[in-house]
Amino acid sequence: MDLEVLNGLLTPKSVAIVGASATPGKIGHTVVQNLKESKYTGGVYPINPGAEEILGYKCYPSILDVKDPIDAAILTVPAKFVPQVIDECGQKGVKGLLIITSGFSEVGLFDLEKDLVKKANSYGMRILGPNIVGVLSNSDNFNGSFAPFLPFKGSGSLVSQSGALLIGIDAATYMKGIGFDKLISIGNMSDVNFADLIEWLDHDPNTSAISLYVEGIRDGRRVIDVSRKATKPIIALKAGVSAHGAVAAASHTGSLAGAEKIYKSAFAQAGIIQAEDLDNLFDRTLVLSLQPPLKGDNILIITNGGGVGVLGTDAAEKYGIPLKFAPDDVQENLKKYMPDFGSAKNPIDLTGMAGNDWYHDSIKSSFEHPWVDGLVVLYCETAMTDPLGIAKSIKLAIEDTGIKHKPVTVSFVGGERSEKAMRWLVENGIPAYAAPDVALNTMAALREYELIRKEANNEPFKMENVRREEALKIINKARSEGREALTEVEAKHVFSAYDLPITKSQVASTEEEAVRIAKEIGFPIVMKIVSPDILHKSDAGGVKVDINDEKGIRENYLEIIKNVKAFKADAKILGIVIQEMAPWGTEVILGSVNDATFGPTVMFGLGGIFVEVLKDVTFKVAPFSINQARKMLEEIKAAPILAGIRGEKPRDKEKLAETICKYANMIVDLKDEISESDANPVLVYEVGQGLKVADARIILKQK
Ligand code: COA
Repeated sequence: MDLEVLNGLLTPKSVAIVGASATPGKIGHTVVQNLKESKYTGGVYPINPGAEEILGYKCYPSILDVKDPIDAAILTVPAKFVPQVIDECGQKGVKGLLIITSGFSEVGLFDLEKDLVKKANSYGMRILGPNIVGVLSNSDNFNGSFAPFLPFKGSGSLVSQSGALLIGIDAATYMKGIGFDKLISIGNMSDVNFADLIEWLDHDPNTSAISLYVEGIRDGRRVIDVSRKATKPIIALKAGVSAHGAVAAASHTGSLAGAEKIYKSAFAQAGIIQAEDLDNLFDRTLVLSLQPPLKGDNILIITNGGGVGVLGTDAAEKYGIPLKFAPDDVQENLKKYMPDFGSAKNPIDLTGMAGNDWYHDSIKSSFEHPWVDGLVVLYCETAMTDPLGIAKSIKLAIEDTGIKHKPVTVSFVGGERSEKAMRWLVENGIPAYAAPDVALNTMAALREYELIRKEANNEPFKMENVRREEALKIINKARSEGREALTEVEAKHVFSAYDLPITKSQVASTEEEAVRIAKEIGFPIVMKIVSPDILHKSDAGGVKVDINDEKGIRENYLEIIKNVKAFKADAKILGIVIQEMAPWGTEVILGSVNDATFGPTVMFGLGGIFVEVLKDVTFKVAPFSINQARKMLEEIKAAPILAGIRGEKPRDKEKLAETICKYANMIVDLKDEISESDANPVLVYEVGQGLKVADARIILKQK
């Protein structure tokens, strides 16, 4: 990362506004006004050939007329002037350009935008944008944007792919009382992209959590790499998950929004926490910017109201951290701070009689107990209590324990006084929310963060004895014959070069050959037509199973040819596959795509209707660790089937996970050759008995 250049771009010591205007209401005026109003202490140099001064700053006809060094230039000139201005900025030795101007790739002018980047990079400059709102930074008193004001102060920083949304978020920070240090509008991402900003924000001393609003990522692999290495939590809201939303997002940003499931998996693999919606992005950013991860799953809820306790309990289960009863000694101790009709089980109901002392003492004594991994404090505003007093008791109790490695979240249900008390809590480092379920959702985010980080750090599965040359030979032969699809036998051969367990098979082009091969392989046998013109072999009568002798081979050989000819008279017949008939096993499917954003990606699901009708599949960006493959087996709804239900013996999940890893390694190793592939069905046997790929398909990448 060119840290110095990005520092110049994002925390400039001096800034020029090229296209600054003396006319109020123009963007070039607003930016100068914002720099002034945000009390930016660096040099401000408006550039406009027709003005002497703007808002008290001396104005220059060209950036080249400024004697002092300039870190960043904010461009607010119309698109047609941008190339010339970039040259001038380059000659001046500017480090970075914040190009607010619209009218580039988002309206289809891709080449023009590429030229801007080429030009800027040739001077060593980086571009943020074009088509951005700008950059806002509380810690630098820098509002280099046309958003109205610096956001409410906080320690998370947000990168937004939508400019308008960033402006909305800016104002909303005050309503919600949830702040940010920086708001960065990323625009068309012609040069500086998500990966650059994640990397930079991870180094930024004023950012404690990185928040992303994403429509579509271009450099998916790098985002995964830099996020894995990041030391700070990253939270993303991915928009465009519905088919219709994806189209809207694509036209909005000029980049394609990828499939939702692939994004989800890729983010999880990268250690990125996901937000469900905008509110959730705020809430989760707040918790992750203030609290440590939740190391275990023993959470304690302390409340003064049964109702909020039940809501909290429901939410805990919904968000994957179900409550457990507190150990006896914790319960015994807590009984001291409640009347007889309270409950010390969990949730801990101190009852409506709870005041500052009971809250303080119950929190202090239980938070210290080793069983407790995290604490959620709930409170309903009563006439006998002062919410601010309760808030202060919570803070004091936690301070008194001296514990910093366990998280706390809070929810107050009440009116204005509760609202004020919660703001006080947030200012004092304790995330507080108006709804109990949010206090639990955010606690769950801290658990997700703990688990996801561990997973992201797993090493990918390693393989030896791969016969890559053998695979390439088969692929090259198909290419030399002008084919983009391998035959089943060829595909299986490629699979076996990567140690995938395939059913034995060979192609016969005569009846005699079919008999010879069948005897070699051993009965029972499956026979399948090989024809580039027949996609669905069974529909054409081109598949016969369970053939047990030579007579059967001969009869079926003739019948398959007859059926296929009847189905499609001019079908080109390349022969008939003679294949070992694998015994019945649970059918699963492995598939791969070369995703435009994330590259080679593996799909896994149960076969048959599970994949066709229910689309019960899961994805992972390849390669990955054996643990991640094991996780794939649990991610599908039909997971219990593999575990063995209704008297069925459990399937060999360990071998299956290993096979998925090998498959993943194959599609990575051959990523320049394979565009799509599948192994369907793969028959999975009982524990210890492995599995067999019964059918295989490989579509080559066009070269
Ligand atoms: N150097 C310095 N100043 C220049 C210049 C140059 N080479 N060329 C033009 N200017 C000046 C103009 O004279 C004008 O100043 P003036 O008010 O004193 O005349 C100023 O730059 C702006 O140019 P103008 O022609 O008035 O354009 P505008 O203000 O109407 O629009 C943009 C300019 C950049 C705001 C507009 O083209 C645009 O892209 N708008 C959309 C921005 C946006 O929404 N981005 C984020 C999307 S989320």
